[in-house]
Amino acid sequence: MIKTLLQEFHTQFDQEPLIVRSPARINIIGEHTDYNLGFVLPAAIDMEIVFAIAPNQTNHYRFFAHNLDRYLEIPTHSIMRQVGTSAWANYLLGVIQQIQLLGYQVPAFDCIFGGDIPKGAGLSSSAALECGLALAINQTFGLGLDKLQIVKLSQKAENEFVGVKCGIMDQFANTFGRANQVIRLDCRNLSYQYFPLELSDYQLVLLDTGVHHSLASSEYNTRRQQCEEGVHIIKKYLPDIQSLRDIDNVILDAYKDHLPSIIWQRCNFIIKENQRVIDVCKALEMKDIHTVGKKMFEAHHGLQYDYEVSCPELDFLVSFAANDASVIGARMMGGGFGGCTINLIKKEGVESFVQKIKEAYFSYTSISLQTYIVKIVDGTQVINHEL
Ligand code: GLA
Repeated sequence: MIKTLLQEFHTQFDQEPLIVRSPARINIIGEHTDYNLGFVLPAAIDMEIVFAIAPNQTNHYRFFAHNLDRYLEIPTHSIMRQVGTSAWANYLLGVIQQIQLLGYQVPAFDCIFGGDIPKGAGLSSSAALECGLALAINQTFGLGLDKLQIVKLSQKAENEFVGVKCGIMDQFANTFGRANQVIRLDCRNLSYQYFPLELSDYQLVLLDTGVHHSLASSEYNTRRQQCEEGVHIIKKYLPDIQSLRDIDNVILDAYKDHLPSIIWQRCNFIIKENQRVIDVCKALEMKDIHTVGKKMFEAHHGLQYDYEVSCPELDFLVSFAANDASVIGARMMGGGFGGCTINLIKKEGVESFVQKIKEAYFSYTSISLQTYIVKIVDGTQVINHEL
């Protein structure tokens, strides 16, 4: 990819660009906890978007999306939200706008990007676009933004310019990722700790449902509101409470009669999911990979029945996996309503499991299942051209 983009850049723009790679992410456990100021346990993986970028001395930002084979020019003085076939540019334009809002000048530049992160698979190609461009601009124009500023402005670009109210997990994992380690991020104060993911005889495998149900974004926002409502109600009695992070099961149960049952159900899931992140980190420290897997199954059960963000395709994959002796953990990953499941599978069993589940999934959905064996890699970084 780097070679292809470099050649394209030389041909189109006749300049030497800076190269940045920006990875996809997984999450071991801790789903829907980020916007509830809880814990998540993500990592960057070996699928990425590569950027080639250089200043161009015009008054236009010029983008070429290699995978889509589309070109777009935007005047530097008028960054407007794009619709239809140019909507891909919003992730990039949102980033430029946020950098400007921080008080920096972003001069005109040329940018070609492309990669292998499947879109709509819940692997955060959007965060890869945002954080990748943010680092590329930071580096090209020597702005001096630090990693946390890049994370925050990228999340803001997605919230405000793209219009998706995501939490901070994806951008954080993308930028702070470290090879062979998972990051336990405390979304309340953004403190974080790396844990080595020593899988010994096991492998991380993603199974891509190939579906992305349209409910995803409206239901995501509804879940956020339901959690906020839970906090709002309990706050009437305990004014110091700011988020579900400040509520444990004892408090939640003490106010059960004051909460609509669906709200209690959602809040109960989040509180348990936070605890699961802590339990998984302890298990990682003890090199107890079986407990990690067991917690993944528990998380899926909660996401399916309590938080209700799964879908038949995800449930099919997880229950098929649960019945295979070589799989020790499986669950839906990300926002839900489609995308991938994440699976912990005994290495020697991967090949035959993948074959069986591909056939079964095809009979169930008529969709051919994409599977990805993933490695945990470093976060977004500048790449040496010689590579
Ligand atoms: C999406 C969002 C994240 C997070 C997950 C659910 O991926 O972008 O911020 O909320 O859903 O854990």
